[in-house]
Amino acid sequence: MLISGKEISKKVRDQIKDQVTAIKNANKRVPKLVVILVGEDPASKIYVRNKARGCDYVGMASEIIRKPAETTEDELVELLESLNHDDSVDGILVQLPLPKQINENRILNIIDPTKDVDGFHPSNVAKLVLEEDGLQPCTPRGMMVMLEEIGYDLTGKEVVVVGRSNIVGKPVAFMALNRNATVTICHSRTRDLEKVCQRADVLIAATGKPKMFNHNHVKKGAVVLDVGMDHDENGKLCGDVDFDDVKDIVSYITPVPGGVGPMTITMLLDNTLKAYQAKQGD
Ligand code: GUN
Repeated sequence: MLISGKEISKKVRDQIKDQVTAIKNANKRVPKLVVILVGEDPASKIYVRNKARGCDYVGMASEIIRKPAETTEDELVELLESLNHDDSVDGILVQLPLPKQINENRILNIIDPTKDVDGFHPSNVAKLVLEEDGLQPCTPRGMMVMLEEIGYDLTGKEVVVVGRSNIVGKPVAFMALNRNATVTICHSRTRDLEKVCQRADVLIAATGKPKMFNHNHVKKGAVVLDVGMDHDENGKLCGDVDFDDVKDIVSYITPVPGGVGPMTITMLLDNTLKAYQAKQGD
């Protein structure tokens, strides 16, 4: 069965829209997201535009701040400090990757953790690990919502995450662990990857390698969540999983496109609303 990120995303966005409408109807300030794009990366440009469109859909305010590729780290720090102090701003997102001259870790450290709608600030990472309330990364949160939507309880399940990025692999592993799954994190140095993946009740593919997972990696009845946004040999969008090769083995699978992707922006909108509510003391 397909898990449609498109449909689940629409449902969650409509719920967020209702909450923003209620805020408007109470004559209160609506939540605002600021997205910063440094440079001209073509994929980043599309992501940033879609984030602003997502805000429009739910009725939130948004602003895209575009900076030239040669922007210095100090200039970006100065901008972030002014946004940290701006009470009209609830969420701040710096689109990654950043140009080479800018130290990503320093930038992620500067963002006020209460406005860190990406959930990448070390204090939010620590809160995730310690199971405290905080803002959590969007793509992994989206995957948790998808599992909830199909009524899947992770308790005692074998979850195998392939990919150890700070954006997806590491946070999703902790989210699954916090839900009482037995979690294995694999990466490029893992020995006998197929054998490890075959253990998985839930396989999370987050490598960025087109169609690298096939029937040899998937146990019968497994749930497969595909984070890939890759291109095949013909330039066509595909996932990390060879969908056609595994679709008859799995119980559930997320398609690419229309799977995990749409959930990411939806959870960003949800995080912005959460940051707003925390600030308002709601
Ligand atoms: N680049 C790719 N994914 C992401 C993300 O989730 N957040 C940000 N800020 N940049 C990204």
